[in-house]
Amino acid sequence: MPAVQTTTQSVPNDLEAYWLPFTPNRAFKKAPRLIARAKDMHYYTPEGRALLDGTAGLWCTNAGHNREPIVAAIQRQAAELDYSPAFSFAHPKAFELASRVAALAPGDLDHVFFCNSGSEAVDTALKIALAYHNVKGQGARTRLIGREKGYHGVGFGGISVGGIVNNRKYFGTLLAGVDHLPSTYNREQQAFTKGEPEWGAHLADDLERTVALHDASTIAAVIVEPMMGSAGVFPAPKGYLQRLRAICDKHGLLLILDEVITGFGRLGHAFAAERYGVVPDMITFAKGVTSGSVPMGGVIVRAGIYEAFMRGPEHVTELFHGYTYSAHPLACAAGLATLDLYRDEDLFARAKKLEPKWADAAMSLKGLPNVLDVRTVGLTAGIDLASRPDAVGKRGYDALERAFHEESLMIRAVGDTLALTPPLIVSEAQIDEIFSKTAKLIRAVA
Ligand SMILES: Cc1ncc(COP(=O)(O)O)c(C=O)c1O
Repeated sequence: MPAVQTTTQSVPNDLEAYWLPFTPNRAFKKAPRLIARAKDMHYYTPEGRALLDGTAGLWCTNAGHNREPIVAAIQRQAAELDYSPAFSFAHPKAFELASRVAALAPGDLDHVFFCNSGSEAVDTALKIALAYHNVKGQGARTRLIGREKGYHGVGFGGISVGGIVNNRKYFGTLLAGVDHLPSTYNREQQAFTKGEPEWGAHLADDLERTVALHDASTIAAVIVEPMMGSAGVFPAPKGYLQRLRAICDKHGLLLILDEVITGFGRLGHAFAAERYGVVPDMITFAKGVTSGSVPMGGVIVRAGIYEAFMRGPEHVTELFHGYTYSAHPLACAAGLATLDLYRDEDLFARAKKLEPKWADAAMSLKGLPNVLDVRTVGLTAGIDLASRPDAVGKRGYDALERAFHEESLMIRAVGDTLALTPPLIVSEAQIDEIFSKTAKLIRAVA
């Protein structure tokens, strides 16, 4: 097993003990891709080679890396209050951040439950949905509806409503009583679309079929991503989310928008709900809330949901749910500094302004060898490459490796789909650089 030098230690560091998540471990350990530090739009290897960050880390460092105000806020907080119990006690920044996040949400989504990741946010939202119907006297509403190709993290709730086969097939029976809407992607109808495809809103009507099959009185909630990110960047078709909202209203189903990726500016708005003019009942968020600097996630709920729980004797806990690190002081301090940066640098509007330039640059890849489709929305692009006949995912993996070693570019590969989602501070010149390097890569792996 190769030994590598880390930046801060002179002692060689064996690679074996660490089991990397969602990574081919053996291939990685043969040719490691190590990151030692970062600043603004760049990562740096332990040897000091700069890599342009085309993926905002994992769709999370929306404000760019190691921004001074965020770093300073975390340092100050660590020196002032490392931790206070999340149950039965609270610290001031938890309230402040909840108010700030709620103020960014649409409509009457005005209460925030904090956790530490997108997966926890999803499981929290699903549990709130079930408990809400229970406290409202409709405890038979237990069925949850997700979507094919959906990604909602890796908790048992999230993989149950999620629709990516490899994330589900090894893990047993999952939650009972879960149905899936069809994926909204159809290459024949949608290939090379900038933004929301014209075709596909009618697929929301499948929810009516599900209601007819099970009866609305057994269904608690529908959860979808406004743009399916992890499966490979699939924007919602025009009108699709509005149609889902209308059907949910008709039948008393809660609509949960999973905005773990789309929250905090990725689609040019604080939340994608605003872009689509839809007020969901809950929004899940994570990643961008702290620009990836400290783990944090959460759920924003409508006033009526919170109020439904606020009854019974006042000394009794209203919702039996929470995490030791809910609203962790370091995360709250990082979150407040991050929201200040988004506001002061107007980064959500910046993403919106850059979207046409980004989409044009992405579409310049059309016609290159093996490019089957390019999709964009906000500052996000998915590029489908044809699979090698004998090895699905190999072309994508080769592209990822070459991007790191040869092009000094950070990309994400999901099978043979390349995903690009830079920090919102990306410059126009860096957009050109990202796509010219991606074009070189695509030719190299032909
Ligand atoms: C829509 C969505 N939900 C949930 C998650 C899970 O987040 P985490 O990896 O922080 O648990 C992700 C992660 O990419 C996501 O894209």
